[in-house]
Amino acid sequence: MPKKGTPEACSNPLIEMKSQDQPQDSGTSPSYPFPEGFLWGAATSSHQVEGDNRFNDWWESEHEGRVPHRSGATCRHYELFREDFDLARSWGHNAHRFSIEWSRVQPAPNRFDNEALRHYVEVVNVLNDRGMEPVVTLHHFTNPSWFARRGGWLSSDAPRVFDNYVERVVQTVGNRARFWLTINEPTVYVRQGYIAGQWPPFKSRGWRQAYAALHNLARAHRLSYRTIHQVIPAPLVSFAHNAPVIEPCRATAWADRSAAAVRDFVLNRLFFRLIGPGCLDFVGINYYTRMVVRSQGNVTNLLLGSVCRAHGHRGQGPFSKIGWESYPQGLFEILQRFGRSGLPLLVTENGIATDDEQVRTRFIEQHLKVISQAIESGTNVIGYLYWTLMDSFEWTDGMEAPFGLAAVDSKTQKRTPRPCVEELKRLFTSGRTEPQAQRFMRSASGSNG
Ligand code: BGC
Repeated sequence: MPKKGTPEACSNPLIEMKSQDQPQDSGTSPSYPFPEGFLWGAATSSHQVEGDNRFNDWWESEHEGRVPHRSGATCRHYELFREDFDLARSWGHNAHRFSIEWSRVQPAPNRFDNEALRHYVEVVNVLNDRGMEPVVTLHHFTNPSWFARRGGWLSSDAPRVFDNYVERVVQTVGNRARFWLTINEPTVYVRQGYIAGQWPPFKSRGWRQAYAALHNLARAHRLSYRTIHQVIPAPLVSFAHNAPVIEPCRATAWADRSAAAVRDFVLNRLFFRLIGPGCLDFVGINYYTRMVVRSQGNVTNLLLGSVCRAHGHRGQGPFSKIGWESYPQGLFEILQRFGRSGLPLLVTENGIATDDEQVRTRFIEQHLKVISQAIESGTNVIGYLYWTLMDSFEWTDGMEAPFGLAAVDSKTQKRTPRPCVEELKRLFTSGRTEPQAQRFMRSASGSNG
């Protein structure tokens, strides 16, 4: 799983590679074939962009000084969403992923806020009016403070409580939205909150609790999958799976190979096992990086390995501003692997935090290239959502991780598009192939239920 905040044990310095260190382009601008109707755009999450999300556990932790930065007004997207979607539309986007802030919709256990619900209906309407497919996330790392106080994801009725919120949302939004993601990156959430102790609820090495929380998140997914299908005629439901590609540091060392396999089981398989068969209509894939692991140190690090940040691993790519390796080949492997499930795949996040715009553009080109190769080799990929629309509150990195397609001036809230915006548009609008997407979508709807 990619790190959030402090890196795992590693003594090697991280180097952000600049564009001059990169393999040189041939000089011609690439174009890759994408099927007609392929979804593309950007993704955001409520707490990271909306501003003033006062009723959730992150806000509380920010103000208690338990995390290093405050989200404050961040991008004021709660007010500026129309302008932001106009911008995305002007960049050619035909899809957009956003999350509903549970703590706004249900600020107290027995109270739903109709105004907040109307707000999100308006968000979905505005996207539809602009011809952008809404992809709605129901839980993206934050919990209402009241939910956290009553035990959060450790409480045995947490899945039911979450499902109650989901029911209210889908009853209100209805079939204005087809794509639903129940939970964003359950494994990242649990690792950061229950093992690394860096995010609320700040538990360190609470392995039993981590498992209990993951188990409840899986139950919550199952319940809400059913609820969404009961309320909306033909929804497409998944969760957003953080899918790192995991490799041993020393290919010949049994201990490293075994640590990579165990870690891969925990990060790439376990949650799917916990939710069981029949409750995914597609798979949401968040792909950022490769994890190279080395078995060393204490029992946990012997078993699961620790992330090795040394240089010189096979095919190593540049590191981003926050130390994540750019490794596009890994996305190919991940797409092929999850594509074998027979379900359509939607890349629900992929992006890089960098100050070097050539590096960002190259990152995007390389990842789109492997997606188009995966499609050509028969993998059913239906869309790509770049993380993220604009620079925003990056959890424990605050505003210091520029992932955005646009920079944001925090004083004036002015959005300044970056060069990759045009490159993305060009890549998605040139080199089209036959209209396969309709077929993909049909096969996706056919797998419902
Ligand atoms: C999360 C986002 C986060 C991004 C970059 C993903 O794991 O879903 O919330 O901003 O990574 O760190």
